[in-house]
Amino acid sequence: MPSEFESSARRTGGSRSPAGERAPGRLGALRREYDAGRFDRGDLAPTWDEQFARWFEDAGGLAEPNAMVLATADGDGRPSTRTVLLKAVDAAGFVLFTNYTSRKAREVAANPHASLLFPWYPLDRQVCVVGTVERLTAAENAAYFASRPRGSQLGAWSSHQSSVIAGREELTARRDAVAARWPGPVPAPDFWGGLRVIPRTVEFWAGRPDRLHDRLRFRRLPDGVWIVERLAP
Ligand SMILES: Cc1cc2nc3c(=O)[nH]c(=O)nc-3n(C[C@H](O)[C@H](O)[C@H](O)COP(=O)(O)O)c2cc1C
Repeated sequence: MPSEFESSARRTGGSRSPAGERAPGRLGALRREYDAGRFDRGDLAPTWDEQFARWFEDAGGLAEPNAMVLATADGDGRPSTRTVLLKAVDAAGFVLFTNYTSRKAREVAANPHASLLFPWYPLDRQVCVVGTVERLTAAENAAYFASRPRGSQLGAWSSHQSSVIAGREELTARRDAVAARWPGPVPAPDFWGGLRVIPRTVEFWAGRPDRLHDRLRFRRLPDGVWIVERLAP
């Protein structure tokens, strides 16, 4: 009896390799050795944000190195995830921009705890962040919105992100109406802006042979001091 996954893979063309090496039935055999190279405490930058900057530099050749998975949870703790783009980072935290009526924004309004994951697989590295979320100020939002291309500005006005819509025409009709309303500069919508994930932990994960990976985690103590811990892989 084929699993749901197998039958849907067949419908969509199945495995990507002719030999079937990646067919869902062979998932158990689909594995790779990792080796991101030596990564010890002595190799760490003094702060998480300096270490992040170093690894982000190394990720510069990847497609969308600033793509990250944001996990949020609703007031009852039910989780959800999606990809977003990192638009700024400094010692204060990781900044992304989104629609404040979206599911993610509604969830962080009810439950400020969130997590980020940078999946830099080609480098055998990942960065995992846990923290809380705050909104950027209206002035910060307006400054960033003004730097976006006009098409993205109109798109932000046209989408009630995460709401159910009847069809694509609804979006394009709204976009055309918004474009006619502002033939010149487009103001920032008050339902759109930045979220900053203020980290409590930032873990730098480097894949190593035999699944004995290196995991070095910066953790902020209640008094604000950051410590570094090594975690078992
Ligand atoms: C590579 C990539 C980058 C994305 N960047 C953003 C982003 O920066 N902000 C955003 O709101 N959505 C972004 N999205 C869309 C989100 O993944 C998601 O569909 C949307 O934000 C609605 O999520 P929600 O309903 O969980 O709130 C991106 C998607 C992809 C695949």
